[in-house]
Amino acid sequence: MININAKYRNIIEAIKDEIPFEPEICIILGSGLGDFANKVETIKSISTSSLPSYPLSTVQGHNGNLHFSKYANKKLFIVQGRIHFYEGYKISDCVLPVHLAAKLNCKKILLTNAAGGINPNFAPGDLMLIRSFVALNIKKEITNLIGLSSLELRNSMIDFPSEELNNLIIKAALEEKINLCEGTYWFTKGPSYETPAEIRMIAKYGGDAVGMSTVHEAFYAHYMKLKVAAISCITNFAAGLSPNKLSHQEVMDTAEKVKNKFEKLIKKSIELM
Ligand code: HPA
Repeated sequence: MININAKYRNIIEAIKDEIPFEPEICIILGSGLGDFANKVETIKSISTSSLPSYPLSTVQGHNGNLHFSKYANKKLFIVQGRIHFYEGYKISDCVLPVHLAAKLNCKKILLTNAAGGINPNFAPGDLMLIRSFVALNIKKEITNLIGLSSLELRNSMIDFPSEELNNLIIKAALEEKINLCEGTYWFTKGPSYETPAEIRMIAKYGGDAVGMSTVHEAFYAHYMKLKVAAISCITNFAAGLSPNKLSHQEVMDTAEKVKNKFEKLIKKSIELM
């Protein structure tokens, strides 16, 4: 088991000296969705590069900033700049933003990401509420991280993701007249996109969307007793489902097109939380 408290004590101390308030809700912004941070009132921003030993993001569309912001009278901790496993970081590095959220006393976390659509009813630009995760290929790392036996991990999977938050997000989508898909998010380690054959296998086993993040953050947040919800922005047809060659640029372009809808859904969800 890794002692994350000890590993990141410096960072926690550095942030605690600067925070303007104790946040209630943490929002982690996925690839191409970082602009949301500019659509709410920012009270204080901390560049992650100013924090001692904070892992640097190497991915385009992931500026490293921690924002203390307000919207609809709610105090937010917004993380711009996810840390990915495929960048070569350890899982204990990848969950650092979640660890900070827990240490800052956030009670709820909303994870967002870009994902490839597998479900034939999904198209690029759709938003999907994550109903469940497939984390099979990363369970061992997660278990090592939180130091529970697999059995304990299984038994702790109650109300995960949070039914309460999911219902609020569904209500928010209805009020904003946004079509919200629902489905299972299948984690792949990357760094390359999947092969068409892998996607056919994932489809067979019930995966609706595929991506390279979020799963370990969700498990760790749940373990740290935060209520968890997660939303995927379907940025592309998964490999083999369209003649287009998959690229990070396509992911970024779709996220850019969808950002107004995404902003509306997240804002309304925050209002209802
Ligand atoms: N696969 C994996 N990760 C992704 C994809 C995809 O198709 N799109 C965005 N992130």
